[in-house]
Order: sequence, then structure tokens, then C-alpha cells
Amino acid sequence: MKPTRTVAAVLGASALLAAVPAALPATAAPAAERAAAAAPGGPLALRDLAPEGFRIGTAVAGGGHHVDQPYPDPFPNDRQYRRLVGQQFSSLSPENQMKWEFIHPEQGTYRFGPADEIVRFAQRHGQVVRGHTLLWHSQNPAWLEEGEFTKPQLRRILRDHIRTVVGRYKGKIQQWDVANEIFLDDGSLRTQDNIWIRELGPGIIEDAFRWAHQADPAAKLFFNDYGVESDNAKSDAYYALVQEFQAKGVPVDGFSVQAHLSTRYGFPGDLQANLQRFADLGVETAVTELDVRMDVPVGEQPTRAQQDQQADYYRQALEACLSVEGCDSFTLWGFTDKYSWVPVFFQGEGFATVMTEDFRRKPAYYAVAYRLAEAKASYPRG
Ligand code: G3I
Repeated sequence: MKPTRTVAAVLGASALLAAVPAALPATAAPAAERAAAAAPGGPLALRDLAPEGFRIGTAVAGGGHHVDQPYPDPFPNDRQYRRLVGQQFSSLSPENQMKWEFIHPEQGTYRFGPADEIVRFAQRHGQVVRGHTLLWHSQNPAWLEEGEFTKPQLRRILRDHIRTVVGRYKGKIQQWDVANEIFLDDGSLRTQDNIWIRELGPGIIEDAFRWAHQADPAAKLFFNDYGVESDNAKSDAYYALVQEFQAKGVPVDGFSVQAHLSTRYGFPGDLQANLQRFADLGVETAVTELDVRMDVPVGEQPTRAQQDQQADYYRQALEACLSVEGCDSFTLWGFTDKYSWVPVFFQGEGFATVMTEDFRRKPAYYAVAYRLAEAKASYPRG
């Protein structure tokens, strides 16, 4: 527990929220905007509202599902979007631009331009970067998945990729998702669809962490997955693996939950306790891909009740992270519905982010803003 960030009573450190009750409903949250806008520091920006040292992040839209959409690559081309990325956030996660198929499209050929651009942008804007991702079963290039390689060749391919990509951004990446989605829901390893584990055995996961650490000793190295928000078979598997790595001296620094949530299901109420058990092992935790999708009939808009429910999920996810020592990185998987992956993957679902397609702030935005400001006011760190 980190009680300092969950103290309900404002300690008088800031006039910002001094008179605002702790459990303000999402519907009342615009008061936070008025208060924040009136406060020194100017217009409402999530990164400014956050406590010192607490990173509020977004995925940076590009590649992946955007390739087939009727708009140009978002990050380089949408100026309004780009301005908000710089203004609102203190951590950036390339949505697809550092994945294998994107950054290493042909054997021995790397395409660094778009990732370089994100890292440069982050540096100019005083932001950190979360690297995503090095060992995954998905979005691997055809040359890799369909190539005929011996085991030693495959091992070298992974090692060289990690050395090259992690090495290129040495000192510029705060956290790397080294191993992404390596377990199935039942807690067994993805031995079939993960080429690395299938061909080289589970020991390759340790190697990946070791190679990444050698390439950038300062970067924090994470396991990252979906469906691990709760204490369940999958998160138990990570809990065991973290301890195994620690016992063997494998450099693992963190465990992160993606948090692709849906209002179809209840909020994972044990999120905080689950993060806490990893913190108790001595590793950092993070929320890395938060969004909250909902069912809305085609051509309609979410109801106010749906928006409030969504805002409540965002607030609860943030609350869980704020309450756990070492959970200092909280990332939204995009902040505008304009570029969300959700409607592309889930028919009839959408509206999962904190801003509308035309960048209007939703109750979920205010819920996050309000809770951040409250945490900052109750615990001015640093
Ligand atoms: O690879 C196929 C290609 O063969 C086909 O021609 C083309 C036709 O649509 O689709 C290609 O797949 C696309 C894929 O990216 C690879 O580029 C999918 O349509 C597209 O939907 C997919 O989107 C990305 C997705 O990861 C892939 O898993 C999204 O942009 C990206 O937001 C999403 O991000 C992931 C995180 O990395 C990990 N956690 C889950 C999260 C959401 O799925």
C-alpha cells in the first residue's frame, strides 16, 4: 500500500481541490477542469495534474489497424492529435511502431524512422517512452514466421534483434515490454503460437530479459499481458515466473497489466490487490493499455449512464495503480475514439477512450483528471 497517495483528506497542499469531496461522481468532475484551469499552470493537462514521478501515458497511433483505415498515419500527419500527445501525456508507447513486423520487416532490414520520431518527440516534450515489444507471438513478419531456420539461427535472430532495437534506444526507454502475452488464460505457456517458445523452449524468455538488460542496463524490463488484472490462473503464472526469475538472477523489473476492459463485465475489483502482490515481490507494476469499450448500436451514441460507468472504470483503474507503491506508470491505449483499435476488432463495440473522435473530453477524461489532481494535492511528492 502507498497510503500517501490514497489519503482521502486533502492536506492543504494545493488550493486546487481543497474544497472538493473525495468521492466526486464522474458527472460532477468538470468542476476539476474549472479548478485546474484556474490554477497556475494554464489549461487542463493530465500530465500536469499527475503527482510528481507518476507517468500518465498514451499509445501513439500508427501502423497496425491504421494501415487499412481511410486516413493517413496518425502521429506524423494529424497535427491536432500530435499537439494533444505532447500536451496531455508524460509517457508514450509506440502502438505498433516498435513491433517486429513494423521495425524489422525484412531479415536484416530495420525500419527505425517512425519509432525514432516518437522517441525524439518524447525527448523534446519531456516524456518517457515505454518500448513495446520484443518477444511476442503476434505481429511478427512473414520472413520470420514462415522462414526455415535452425534453432541456433532463430536464437541469434532474436538476440540480434534485441541488441539492435534496445541498443538503438539505450538510455531513452524507461520501460520495455520484453515478453508480451506469453501465457494463455489457463496459465500455461503459449507453446504453440509463440515461435520463440515453440522452437526454442521456455528458457528463451530468460535470454530475452538478459539480452535486453545487457543492451540497456537502465531500462526497466517488464512482463506485459491482458487478462491479468485479477488474481487468476494467468496472473498466478506470472507471479510464479517472476519469483523463478528472481531466484535465478534474471533481470526482471516489472509486471504490467494491459487493462483492455469492457463495461460488459464488472470492473476487476481485485486489481489493486493483484498489483500489490507483485509489488510485495519487489517488482514495479504498471497499467499499460487501458481502455474501456462499450456496446453501442451502430449509428448511436453512448448514453450518459454508459459514459459514467466507463468513467468509473477509468477512475478505479487509476485508483488501484495510485494505491500501490511502484505503480508509477499508467498508460491509455490511445486517448481518442478517432484512432481506437476497438471498433476494428469488436463489432458493435467502441467509444473506449477518454476523448471523442473530435477530441472532446468525456466523463472518463474528467474522472482521470480529477483523481490525478486529487492525488497530487494530497501528496505533493518530490
Ligand atoms: O497482418 C494482417 C495482414 O496480413 C492483413 O492483410 C491486414 C488486413 O487488415 O491485417 C493485418 O493485421 C493487422 C495487424 O494490426 C498487423 O498490422 C490487423 O488488421 C490490425 O487490426 C492490427 O492492429 C493492432 C493490434 O495490436 C494487433 O494485435 C492494433 O493497431 C494495436 O492497437 C494492437 O495493440 C495490442 C497491443 O500491441 C498488445 N495488447 C493488445 C493490444 C490491442 O490488440
